[in-house]
Amino acid sequence: MSKFSFPILTAEEAAALINDGATVGFSGFTPAGAAKVVPSAMAKRAAELHSAGKPWRIGVITGASTGASLDGALASADAIAWRTPYQSNDVLRKSINSGRTVYFDMHLSQLQPWLRSGFLGKIDWAVIEVCDIEADGSVVLTTSVGAANTLARLAGKVILELNTKHPTFLRGLHDIYEPADPPARGPIPLVNVRDRIGLTVVKLDPARIAGVVLNDADDEVKGFDETTDVTRAIGANVARFLAAERKAGRLPDGLPFQSGVGNIANAVIAAMAQNQELPAFDLYSEVIQDGVVSLIEQGRINFASGTSLTVSPGVLRRVFADWANYKDKLVLRPQEISNSPELVRRLGIIAINTALELDIGGNVNSTHVLGRQMMNGIGGSGDFTRNAHLSIYTCPSIQKNGAISTIVPFVSHLDHSEHSVQVVATEHGVADLRGKDPHGRAQAIIENCVDPQYRDLLHAYVKSCGETHAFCNPDKSFIFHQAFQRHKDMRKAAELL
Ligand code: COA
Repeated sequence: MSKFSFPILTAEEAAALINDGATVGFSGFTPAGAAKVVPSAMAKRAAELHSAGKPWRIGVITGASTGASLDGALASADAIAWRTPYQSNDVLRKSINSGRTVYFDMHLSQLQPWLRSGFLGKIDWAVIEVCDIEADGSVVLTTSVGAANTLARLAGKVILELNTKHPTFLRGLHDIYEPADPPARGPIPLVNVRDRIGLTVVKLDPARIAGVVLNDADDEVKGFDETTDVTRAIGANVARFLAAERKAGRLPDGLPFQSGVGNIANAVIAAMAQNQELPAFDLYSEVIQDGVVSLIEQGRINFASGTSLTVSPGVLRRVFADWANYKDKLVLRPQEISNSPELVRRLGIIAINTALELDIGGNVNSTHVLGRQMMNGIGGSGDFTRNAHLSIYTCPSIQKNGAISTIVPFVSHLDHSEHSVQVVATEHGVADLRGKDPHGRAQAIIENCVDPQYRDLLHAYVKSCGETHAFCNPDKSFIFHQAFQRHKDMRKAAELL
């Protein structure tokens, strides 16, 4: 470890520096690389102050979601007044949906430019997890970059969490590049997934480092649910579609893939790699999940570029133990680079994301359950979907034991429009929407992707719209959603059509 002379603080001493009403930027993109001991100590302090009748609530900015000791602990202590840009914690989700925490859901590629532009106000403090610190204030990040480089550079004061669980040989994993902002912005000089265009460290002004807190906690990354027949079938359908595209000469080898977050995305990428008609591929994505590590081991993924290495502790230990093999196959970049619309378009990315709900026109809801309850947020899905060479959405055709069809007449909340979605896949099959009008899209989605028990219902909806170009029937789709909300059962909604 390098020598530095910044004061060593306990987590409690660090937490005591931060006042009620402060805006705090934390490292972390998913639980990977998230600050841990300082936010836990802040939560404890908030709870003590609240029981003494004193206020303590802060604004929280991170790269994306975080772990239990950051979002979980602070939300449980009712200490988050407002939050951006993404989350996936149960307790925080409840606080957001009850209106107690103000939540600003935004495209992840825009966070760093917005911070620099001052759109989100002044950053008072940054709490950043690192694995090495130089005397001149240069630091090596851990398992994610996210927005940590920008948050640390812009914050009034910085607290470093030095995590000894993460080896110092991680120096070299990160490629830290921060573009200039318009009107001075030039092209981002990355033309290949493997290019390195920046520094291996984040350079901080030593005068702004308030102290260092020691830590040896694992990243709080949970493993995934076992794959199911449904998720395996979705993955196999996507893989079969892509293999056919390749055979038809529409999918040149070498286009990188992006894979979304969650159980379904993890299963889809695994199924894709099993299809031997598809050659091994590169990933230019946001989150590198457990499944990717197995596929690197199997030689099915050649290289993975992301902004976080979000793997469960056992898998991370495997990676560290065989670092000589991994170090030339992984790179972590700031989220404005991993998710850059300019780069997504230039590299010709095949984007595969998960929908909560989608409609027969091809519009996608990624964020709001039944149009009302925030699930996680839009994350990077918009960055990739709108700019991809080919954008694919997957989801199971039904949820909640079949009471809900994920495919509806019109989405109850719109995140990605029909103009940005080219392919839809469920366990039943694939709908190719390219070149189709609204009726063609509806036909393809209903016949190939909708669960058989809901096909007649959706055909009846289309018929009720008459012979127009688009088939929106506002009265009936409203009735449909109302019935759905009331009965929590779509089959009952059929009686109203
Ligand atoms: N109506 C009601 N509930 C629904 C639903 C629907 N249409 N679709 C899903 N759900 C529920 C599921 O039943 C499940 O509930 P449970 O936790 O009580 O079991 C829950 O939502 C999660 O569903 P699951 O099928 O396990 O999804 P997942 O883990 O694969 O995540 C998203 C799916 C959409 C939530 C997730 O991918 C996401 O947050 N996406 C937005 C951000 C994004 O795409 N980022 C990637 C960019 S790189």
